[in-house]
Amino acid sequence: MPTDVTEKVIEMVDIVDLISEVVDLRRRGANFVGLCPFHQEKTPSFTISPEKRIFKCFGCGKAGNVFSFMIEYYGMTFGEALRELARRAGIKLGVKDDKNLKQEITRKDEILRALESARLFYQKILHTQSGAVALSYLKNRGFNSNTIEEFGIGYAPLGWDNLARELISKGIPNDILLDAGLVKPKENKPGEFYDTFRERIIFPIHNHIGKVVGFGGRILKELDDQPKYINSPQTQVFDKSKLLFGLFLGRNEIRNNKSVILVEGYADVVSLHQFGFKNAVASCGTSLTTEQLEQIARYANTIYIAYDSDEAGQKATERAIRLALPLGFEVLIVRLIKGEDPDSFVQKNGAKAFYALLDNSVSFVRYFAETANDKGLLSRPAQKSLVIRHILSLINSIPDKLQHDDFVKELADILGFPYSKINAIYSEKVKLAQERKTGPIERNEESLQNSGKNNIVSETAKELLPEERNLLEICLTEKGAIDYLVKIYHFDSSQMMSKIGKDLLEIIIHHKRKDIINSIILDDNISDELKKIFMDFSFFRIEPSRNWERFAHSPEEKDIGKVVKEVYSRLKIKKTEQQMHQLKSLISQKVENSNELLKQYQELARERQKLKSSIK
Ligand code: UTP
Ligand code: MN
Repeated sequence: MPTDVTEKVIEMVDIVDLISEVVDLRRRGANFVGLCPFHQEKTPSFTISPEKRIFKCFGCGKAGNVFSFMIEYYGMTFGEALRELARRAGIKLGVKDDKNLKQEITRKDEILRALESARLFYQKILHTQSGAVALSYLKNRGFNSNTIEEFGIGYAPLGWDNLARELISKGIPNDILLDAGLVKPKENKPGEFYDTFRERIIFPIHNHIGKVVGFGGRILKELDDQPKYINSPQTQVFDKSKLLFGLFLGRNEIRNNKSVILVEGYADVVSLHQFGFKNAVASCGTSLTTEQLEQIARYANTIYIAYDSDEAGQKATERAIRLALPLGFEVLIVRLIKGEDPDSFVQKNGAKAFYALLDNSVSFVRYFAETANDKGLLSRPAQKSLVIRHILSLINSIPDKLQHDDFVKELADILGFPYSKINAIYSEKVKLAQERKTGPIERNEESLQNSGKNNIVSETAKELLPEERNLLEICLTEKGAIDYLVKIYHFDSSQMMSKIGKDLLEIIIHHKRKDIINSIILDDNISDELKKIFMDFSFFRIEPSRNWERFAHSPEEKDIGKVVKEVYSRLKIKKTEQQMHQLKSLISQKVENSNELLKQYQELARERQKLKSSIK
């Protein structure tokens, strides 16, 4: 979005005033801190930077600006937040601002209404003659009437435009049906549409407040040339990467148990609910994301992973473990017999047996060790060593360090290795990981400690080099740094080294004419994951670090030119070193023109030396 009004609001509303109405704040350096209003805590980790007009909790990871605060704390829509904040700031909303807003809000409402009408239609059809075959299919699978009703399961009948005709007769226009993902345009007949779901069992998917935002559709008889399931496309209201099937229906259960059962499919969720496991959730036809895990983290701290035991299920399990551990979840893996999924298992064996499966679930350490053993990897020393190292780095990704030792012990036990040996490798790993984390500009202690629970460096951000990270941090925290880089060094995103580095810098450049971080927070085109990375970078310097002060004549005044030169040169040095490394391996392979290569190598070495001495 950000328009002129939102910018004005951010400028005019005092974020400290606003939040102090509900949080007791104390000054700490340039910032304010208090007990986080978004999670339970005893020592304050909720931090506001009045200067940057943003907040971040180092405990739960919630972060944003005045808009995010109104939306998250008071549950407002963006439009409501804008109206309220504008009122506080004494800004009159122009007719145009208000109209744009109203249009956007009503469009979303219309889409939701269309989806709700579609759900009713599908549900109604299931209980008519044309749905009889679907209903008996569901009954045969063991879904009872209650369950079918509770989930709002329906049927999209045979035919190309049953839904479209029904909804259009109710006054819902074509473009809303299209935007809701309910119809698709015909390829060779512009202006004409066909139903997205035809002859399929329909599973409605709810968002966190219980609105139907999309559907999953299962074919009745499996056919080779058709996907078993199709899902609603990405729309303004349906973002697969953030939604979980079953989360809304099971939220109370999940809150009480503080645990979820993560399964692969719609049918698994439905059956488990029916058998009393209302805390089962599944992603909707995509692999699990950090954003989905963050949804879960609002209610639960234990995750049972109950994926299929086939190759694909194993891959998905490993991914879920890798994403869940750094978020601080207790992760337990449910062992399913080959060929079974939770749905087939519980339908066949009942609730008691599934309870027993949960009881017998294993830690990720045991899961990896046993899976490796099943594959015969543990009888080959080189493979075994790889497995051990992999498990150790997973252990190391758990934010609560107190747990590390227990897992290291468990690993030693399972493998029959002396604990001291495994622990030595573990310590070595930790040291290495730390060295990689610390960039050339030394991060201060506090922000390092703060990078504990939930304040995770996301998977994506891990690909960033420290040199790139420093550069991005400076662009976000120092006014004018990005302009300086672009103008003086003709810097652009192609000069970053990693893909993610390029993407992040591209976004900064796109927003450089504005209050960069606030403009990024309000940009709907940027994913939450990337926004989170930007917020982490904006807060990297809670207090000025020692190294940082080298550049400052006084605490307020820093020599931006010098800072930018340093980060720029460090990145160039890194790049030069990478090129030297590549040349070196070419030379060692004794290719023909190795003399030429040697010259190039020496040239690069000189270049590197020059860069190094220029920033001494
Ligand atoms: P499965 O193939 O394991 O199906 O896909 P299932 O859940 O056991 O379904 P039943 O028991 O045969 O009815 C697991 C999940 O993967 C997604 C769906 O979300 C499904 O529930 N999926 C699967 C798709 O999105 N498309 C497909 O073609 C297949
Ligand atoms: Mn199944």
